Amino acid sequence: MTGTAELVAEEISDVLIEAGHEVEVEPMDDLGADAFEGGGIFLICTSTYGQGDVPDNAMPFYEALKEEKPDLSGVRYGVYSLGDRTYLDTFNFGGKRFDEILSELGARRLGTLAMHDASAGTVPEEEGADWAMEWVAGFESVPA
Ligand SMILES: Cc1cc2nc3c(=O)[nH]c(=O)nc-3n(C[C@H](O)[C@H](O)[C@H](O)COP(=O)(O)O)c2cc1C
Repeated sequence: MTGTAELVAEEISDVLIEAGHEVEVEPMDDLGADAFEGGGIFLICTSTYGQGDVPDNAMPFYEALKEEKPDLSGVRYGVYSLGDRTYLDTFNFGGKRFDEILSELGARRLGTLAMHDASAGTVPEEEGADWAMEWVAGFESVPA
Protein backbone atom coordinates (compact mmCIF):
# COMPACT_ATOMS: atom_id res chain seq x y z
CA MET A 1 0.00 0.00 0.00
CA THR A 2 2.93 2.36 0.73
CA GLY A 3 5.57 0.45 -1.23
CA THR A 4 7.45 -1.39 1.52
CA ALA A 5 6.50 -4.91 0.42
CA GLU A 6 7.44 -4.02 -3.15
CA LEU A 7 10.88 -2.79 -2.03
CA VAL A 8 11.38 -5.97 -0.04
CA ALA A 9 10.35 -8.09 -3.05
CA GLU A 10 12.91 -6.31 -5.25
CA GLU A 11 15.63 -6.79 -2.66
CA ILE A 12 14.78 -10.48 -2.24
CA SER A 13 14.79 -10.85 -6.01
CA ASP A 14 18.36 -9.51 -6.12
CA VAL A 15 19.41 -12.06 -3.49
CA LEU A 16 17.84 -14.95 -5.39
CA ILE A 17 19.35 -13.87 -8.71
CA GLU A 18 22.72 -13.59 -6.99
CA ALA A 19 22.20 -17.19 -5.79
CA GLY A 20 21.78 -18.25 -9.44
CA HIS A 21 17.98 -18.42 -9.73
CA GLU A 22 15.72 -17.01 -12.40
CA VAL A 23 13.27 -14.61 -10.79
CA GLU A 24 10.23 -12.68 -11.92
CA VAL A 25 8.67 -10.07 -9.62
CA GLU A 26 4.92 -9.65 -10.14
CA PRO A 27 2.72 -7.08 -8.40
CA MET A 28 -0.38 -8.88 -7.11
CA ASP A 29 -2.82 -6.31 -8.55
CA ASP A 30 -3.74 -8.22 -11.69
CA LEU A 31 -3.17 -11.81 -10.60
CA GLY A 32 -5.96 -14.39 -10.76
CA ALA A 33 -6.39 -17.94 -9.49
CA ASP A 34 -4.33 -19.16 -12.48
CA ALA A 35 -1.19 -17.34 -11.25
CA PHE A 36 0.41 -20.61 -10.13
CA GLU A 37 -0.28 -22.51 -13.36
CA GLY A 38 2.60 -24.80 -14.27
CA GLY A 39 3.76 -25.06 -10.67
CA GLY A 40 7.18 -24.05 -9.42
CA ILE A 41 8.46 -22.06 -6.48
CA PHE A 42 6.70 -18.86 -5.49
CA LEU A 43 7.32 -16.30 -2.79
CA ILE A 44 4.43 -14.23 -1.51
CA CYS A 45 5.60 -10.91 -0.17
CA THR A 46 2.69 -9.12 1.46
CA SER A 47 1.83 -6.51 4.06
CA THR A 48 -1.21 -6.42 6.38
CA TYR A 49 -3.99 -3.82 6.47
CA GLY A 50 -7.48 -3.13 7.78
CA GLN A 51 -8.58 -5.69 10.35
CA GLY A 52 -5.71 -8.04 9.61
CA ASP A 53 -6.45 -8.18 5.90
CA VAL A 54 -4.23 -8.63 2.88
CA PRO A 55 -3.51 -5.25 1.25
CA ASP A 56 -6.11 -3.79 -1.18
CA ASN A 57 -4.07 -4.60 -4.28
CA ALA A 58 -3.88 -8.28 -3.25
CA MET A 59 -7.54 -8.64 -2.26
CA PRO A 60 -8.95 -9.73 -5.68
CA PHE A 61 -6.15 -12.32 -6.00
CA TYR A 62 -6.72 -13.64 -2.48
CA GLU A 63 -10.50 -13.82 -3.01
CA ALA A 64 -10.05 -15.57 -6.39
CA LEU A 65 -7.95 -18.28 -4.73
CA LYS A 66 -10.61 -18.78 -2.05
CA GLU A 67 -13.47 -18.94 -4.55
CA GLU A 68 -11.90 -20.84 -7.45
CA LYS A 69 -9.85 -23.24 -5.32
CA PRO A 70 -7.16 -24.18 -7.89
CA ASP A 71 -5.22 -27.38 -7.23
CA LEU A 72 -1.83 -26.15 -6.04
CA SER A 73 -0.30 -29.54 -5.27
CA GLY A 74 2.55 -28.78 -7.72
CA VAL A 75 3.41 -25.55 -5.95
CA ARG A 76 6.02 -24.81 -3.32
CA TYR A 77 6.01 -21.42 -1.72
CA GLY A 78 7.50 -19.13 0.85
CA VAL A 79 5.95 -16.15 2.62
CA TYR A 80 7.61 -12.92 3.61
CA SER A 81 4.99 -11.02 5.56
CA LEU A 82 5.05 -7.41 6.73
CA GLY A 83 3.14 -6.17 9.73
CA ASP A 84 3.39 -4.18 12.91
CA ARG A 85 3.23 -5.70 16.37
CA THR A 86 1.27 -2.68 17.58
CA TYR A 87 -1.67 -4.42 15.90
CA LEU A 88 -1.58 -7.09 18.57
CA ASP A 89 -4.56 -9.18 17.51
CA THR A 90 -3.82 -9.18 13.81
CA PHE A 91 -0.03 -9.15 13.73
CA ASN A 92 1.09 -10.21 10.24
CA PHE A 93 -2.29 -11.68 9.35
CA GLY A 94 -1.69 -10.71 5.68
CA GLY A 95 1.04 -13.32 5.34
CA LYS A 96 -0.79 -15.77 7.59
CA ARG A 97 -3.90 -15.59 5.38
CA PHE A 98 -1.87 -16.38 2.27
CA ASP A 99 -0.08 -19.19 4.09
CA GLU A 100 -3.41 -20.70 5.14
CA ILE A 101 -5.08 -20.56 1.75
CA LEU A 102 -2.06 -21.86 -0.15
CA SER A 103 -1.64 -24.84 2.16
CA GLU A 104 -5.40 -25.53 2.03
CA LEU A 105 -5.10 -25.69 -1.76
CA GLY A 106 -2.33 -28.27 -1.54
CA ALA A 107 0.77 -26.11 -1.93
CA ARG A 108 3.68 -26.87 0.37
CA ARG A 109 5.59 -24.19 2.21
CA LEU A 110 9.37 -24.09 2.10
CA GLY A 111 10.95 -22.63 5.20
CA THR A 112 9.56 -20.47 7.95
CA LEU A 113 6.82 -17.88 7.57
CA ALA A 114 8.88 -14.70 7.84
CA MET A 115 7.25 -11.87 9.77
CA HIS A 116 8.62 -8.35 9.73
CA ASP A 117 7.63 -6.03 12.59
CA ALA A 118 7.54 -2.37 11.55
CA SER A 119 7.51 -1.29 15.22
CA ALA A 120 10.89 -2.97 15.84
CA GLY A 121 12.74 -0.36 13.84
CA THR A 122 14.60 -2.85 11.65
CA VAL A 123 14.90 -2.13 7.94
CA PRO A 124 12.51 -4.48 6.11
CA GLU A 125 14.62 -4.70 2.93
CA GLU A 126 17.68 -5.71 4.96
CA GLU A 127 15.80 -8.20 7.09
CA GLY A 128 14.12 -9.55 3.95
CA ALA A 129 17.45 -10.01 2.17
CA ASP A 130 18.95 -11.83 5.16
CA TRP A 131 15.91 -14.08 5.45
CA ALA A 132 15.97 -14.81 1.69
CA MET A 133 19.57 -15.97 1.86
CA GLU A 134 18.61 -18.56 4.47
CA TRP A 135 15.38 -19.40 2.68
CA VAL A 136 17.07 -20.15 -0.62
CA ALA A 137 19.90 -22.10 1.06
CA GLY A 138 17.22 -24.26 2.73
CA PHE A 139 15.38 -25.30 -0.40
CA GLU A 140 18.36 -25.75 -2.66
CA SER A 141 18.81 -29.10 -0.97
CA VAL A 142 15.10 -30.08 -1.19
CA PRO A 143 14.21 -32.43 -4.08
CA ALA A 144 11.64 -30.97 -6.53
C1 LIG B 1 -4.01 1.51 8.25
C2 LIG B 1 -3.00 0.44 8.57
C3 LIG B 1 -3.45 -0.79 9.05
C4 LIG B 1 -2.54 -1.81 9.37
N1 LIG B 1 -3.00 -2.98 9.90
C5 LIG B 1 -2.12 -3.92 10.30
C6 LIG B 1 -2.57 -5.13 10.94
O1 LIG B 1 -3.77 -5.36 11.13
N2 LIG B 1 -1.64 -6.04 11.33
C7 LIG B 1 -0.29 -5.85 11.16
O2 LIG B 1 0.50 -6.69 11.54
N3 LIG B 1 0.16 -4.69 10.55
C8 LIG B 1 -0.71 -3.74 10.12
N4 LIG B 1 -0.24 -2.58 9.55
C9 LIG B 1 1.23 -2.41 9.32
C10 LIG B 1 1.70 -2.61 7.87
O3 LIG B 1 1.39 -3.91 7.40
C11 LIG B 1 3.23 -2.39 7.83
O4 LIG B 1 3.51 -1.05 8.18
C12 LIG B 1 3.87 -2.71 6.47
O5 LIG B 1 5.28 -2.61 6.60
C13 LIG B 1 3.40 -1.79 5.35
O6 LIG B 1 3.85 -2.31 4.11
P1 LIG B 1 3.51 -1.58 2.71
O7 LIG B 1 4.30 -0.29 2.66
O8 LIG B 1 3.97 -2.52 1.63
O9 LIG B 1 2.08 -1.29 2.62
C14 LIG B 1 -1.14 -1.58 9.20
C15 LIG B 1 -0.70 -0.33 8.72
C16 LIG B 1 -1.62 0.66 8.41
C17 LIG B 1 -1.09 2.00 7.92
